[in-house]
Amino acid sequence: MSVELVVDHVSKSFGGLQAVRDCSVRVEAGSITGLIGPNGAGKSTLFNIVAGAVQPDAGSVRFGGEELVGLSAAERFKRGLLRTFQIAKPFHSMSALENLMAAPGPQRGEGLLSAWLEPGRVARDEEALRARARETLEFLGLDHVRHERAGLLSGGQKKLLELGRTIMADARFVLLDEVAAGVNRTLLNSLADRIEELNKERGVTFFLIEHDIGFVSRLCQPVVVMAQGAVLKIGAPADVRRDPEVVEAYFGGAAPEETSA
Ligand SMILES: Nc1ncnc2c1ncn2[C@@H]1O[C@H](COP(=O)(O)OP(=O)(O)OP(=O)(O)O)[C@@H](O)[C@H]1O
Ligand SMILES: [Mg+2]
Repeated sequence: MSVELVVDHVSKSFGGLQAVRDCSVRVEAGSITGLIGPNGAGKSTLFNIVAGAVQPDAGSVRFGGEELVGLSAAERFKRGLLRTFQIAKPFHSMSALENLMAAPGPQRGEGLLSAWLEPGRVARDEEALRARARETLEFLGLDHVRHERAGLLSGGQKKLLELGRTIMADARFVLLDEVAAGVNRTLLNSLADRIEELNKERGVTFFLIEHDIGFVSRLCQPVVVMAQGAVLKIGAPADVRRDPEVVEAYFGGAAPEETSA
């Protein structure tokens, strides 16, 4: 397996607070790599640095061998790198279907000029886009709520819709920030199934933050543990869960919480 993402000695401070300290992590192409750690450990900040929302103070982030630091989030997106947010941000007044149709699509290099020269083709594109959005909703088990306003969907359904945006974009590397949070047990299993399917059948690499250790154990290999801004351990889920330093980092002695079967 080749290494797709290399986070190399990355640090970031906000004022006097060092949110990320000298972190080095590698994500193999084709893996589902987990990122866990107590609240405030620096997980989302690390994701923000990889996605281009936050500039690191030091260190390098390479994707497919190319340096990302200095590239905008849009430029990273063009390279197939996409993140979802800890708090899902759908367009609330638009339907689930419209949300997916409005999601940034794969880069096709077509502009307004072709829309003006070939209006018939635009109509066909719109139909193709709608069909793709419907397919994606079916894949996620959300087809029955396609005309529902996104703002009225449950927390879990919003999270599934976020995953749908990454599918519409044909992203090859997806950062999922707490995609399972607030998702009920039934949806959680289907979410895990969908992630596995996208990974195995479409070759999508996932780097995912999740507090639910059952979800992480089922999907992720390896698991990276962060605490107080630093990488504490990297290993198989069963090993990091039992690691005394990891257990200590969570609640000073209790094991990471298990909320799913
Ligand atoms: N933009 C910011 N400005 C100032 N401080 C920030 C900013 N972003 C994060 N922090 C701080 O950096 C630390 C790490 O936050 P981060 O959100 O990365 O943690 P996390 O591991 O994702 O936590 P959680 O599990 O609660 O989501 C926290 O102390 C947080 O308050
Ligand atoms: Mg976070």
